[in-house]
Amino acid sequence: MNSDSSFAIPVVTIDGPGGAGKGTLAAAIAEARSWHLLDSGALYRIIAVVALRQGFPLRDAASLAALCSELQIVFGAGSVTVNGDDLTDAIRTEDAGSAASVVAALPPVREAILTLQQEFRRAPGLVADGRDMGTVVFPDAPVKIFLDASAEARAERRYNQLKNKGLGVSLRALLEQIQERDARDRERAVAPLRPAEDALIIDSTEMSIDAVVAMVMEQIVRKTG
Ligand code: DC
Repeated sequence: MNSDSSFAIPVVTIDGPGGAGKGTLAAAIAEARSWHLLDSGALYRIIAVVALRQGFPLRDAASLAALCSELQIVFGAGSVTVNGDDLTDAIRTEDAGSAASVVAALPPVREAILTLQQEFRRAPGLVADGRDMGTVVFPDAPVKIFLDASAEARAERRYNQLKNKGLGVSLRALLEQIQERDARDRERAVAPLRPAEDALIIDSTEMSIDAVVAMVMEQIVRKTG
């Protein structure tokens, strides 16, 4: 949706590497403002999971882009169904994240879901979480955040989350997976992970999520009232 009226609808973009706390931050801001939420990473995860289930090679750009137009995606409260299948848990695994990063490097796939992402911009406002929200998808957003944290801190947070769920994982394997995904997301030719020129960069390595939320809320009030 690129009509003039959509430009009046405020968007807060939250970009940054995996595990920096973008999802938690985005959900807190959306709830506090009663704004819509776009988890763009979930879209890439969905494409990757459906492609794997249907047996498409993850680098078959043309088939994957065609697949995008056949997906009926319904986000519910904490759930997602795709063409009637509940994929809520399937898209949240580490493997789904890595596969998402592979399909996300394909320009036809990014192009195929650009408009879909922009259609999430609806009144009274949108919080959009991803890698290229401020640079490519919503370049005119009045508030842009780039949320970073060291790879070690992100691996440790993920490790604790998985441990709390009773899942045994190796911290070192998680760190390696995070570093590999970072490199792929940062070095790809199209829409690489990088802060927009007008983004506020927040390093959350030593910050609590509450402190990050407070800082972003202050920025939103300053920029959008
Ligand atoms: O945020 P996430 O971990 O759910 O994202 C999964 C992958 O999707 C991430 O490694 C790169 C890709 N992605 C992207 O390329 N652009 C986005 N806007 C969001 C995610």
